[in-house]
Amino acid sequence: PRTVTLGLVGGGTVGGGIVEILRANAAAIRASLNVEFRIATICVADVAKQRDYALPAGCALTTDVHAVLDDAQIDVVVEVMGGTTLAKEVVMKAMASGKHVVTANKALIAANLPALAAAHAAANAARAGAPVHFGYEAAVCGGIPIIHVLQRDLLSDRITGVRGIINGCTNYMLSSMAASGCSYADCLRQASDLGYAEADPTLDVGGFDARSKLKILIELAFGLGVDEDDIPVKGITEVTSVDFEYAKMQGGTIKLLGVAQLDGAGGLTAFVSPAFVPEASQLHGINGATNAVQLLSAYLKETVLVGQGAGRFPTANSCVADLLQIAQGICPAPFPKRPEAGLAFKNDYS
Ligand code: NDP
Ligand code: HSE
Repeated sequence: PRTVTLGLVGGGTVGGGIVEILRANAAAIRASLNVEFRIATICVADVAKQRDYALPAGCALTTDVHAVLDDAQIDVVVEVMGGTTLAKEVVMKAMASGKHVVTANKALIAANLPALAAAHAAANAARAGAPVHFGYEAAVCGGIPIIHVLQRDLLSDRITGVRGIINGCTNYMLSSMAASGCSYADCLRQASDLGYAEADPTLDVGGFDARSKLKILIELAFGLGVDEDDIPVKGITEVTSVDFEYAKMQGGTIKLLGVAQLDGAGGLTAFVSPAFVPEASQLHGINGATNAVQLLSAYLKETVLVGQGAGRFPTANSCVADLLQIAQGICPAPFPKRPEAGLAFKNDYS
């Protein structure tokens, strides 16, 4: 079998999941693709920390990202560390040196997708060999394969709307508030205990995490770069049990939605807000930390992708999906869509 050598930058929740998925599926991957993934190095902040997974045989643990970046044996850098400063440097340097890159880093992608796509194109233009891959399937909605669908499968379809439950923490909270009348504070505590919340839960309850994901979805679905701060956002902090009673009386419930849609007059509108969702909607029954993305398009009409938006294995599985594309020589353009002529973002609701 052909060996594909990996260097992981980050060996926490997601990094550990990648190690375990690759170990558990090594024989199946060898049998189907004739490829063996070898993890040469894992870069972490603290090498003395107890890991909740076994290190692969022969794998070095380091705190020095250059041990990954400067190792000519490493074909793929998997950035699962988080943050935007060192992570951006790692991703840029890896691509520039001809290594494939896989990242789960939503913050990095939300802040830099066009720049990263340009760096990826420049890296490929400077190379004579096979193109380098830049994959970030895990960066939006964890385990749901939404990025590859937008990059490849629906590229020739005309997407007119993207709507979704794209934050698991708040969907868990709202579902619990609707079902059991659990208080806002208790639901937030439970969501944090279950590992759904960001380190700073304001990002979840304020709608900002959903807004970062919506921005990336807008770029992929409509080809339009949008300043994240221009997308109106309202979180769930003011939602109370009375709102659920009213929603139920009207035959629905309340969900935090991220919505982006063409307005039919050359404009794209977008927002993140709690919204009334009627029982007939496919988003109505999406409960707990599950995410769902509804795509409206010319050919497929309505497609809904549902799944786990976070957590070790769903997220790591999306990173592995990128690795499997690399093993097969599949290299989708990271930001392929171009906006329709005249399409402009309209955030003026006055
Ligand atoms: P963790 O905090 O569990 O892991 C981060 C890892 O990075 C740790 O191994 C940590 O080392 C290492 N690290 C941190 N700083 C440095 C540094 N300066 N140099 C070297 N290593 C460093 O995070 P997650 O695994 O949860 O998240 C990783 C990425 O995946 C993030 O971008 C996150 O947004 C994204 N993501 C996560 C999801 C999830 O459900 N967890 C869902 C979707 C995306 P050490 O272990 O020693 O502390
Ligand atoms: N806090 C995020 C969520 C984690 O709840 O969806 C995954 O991005």
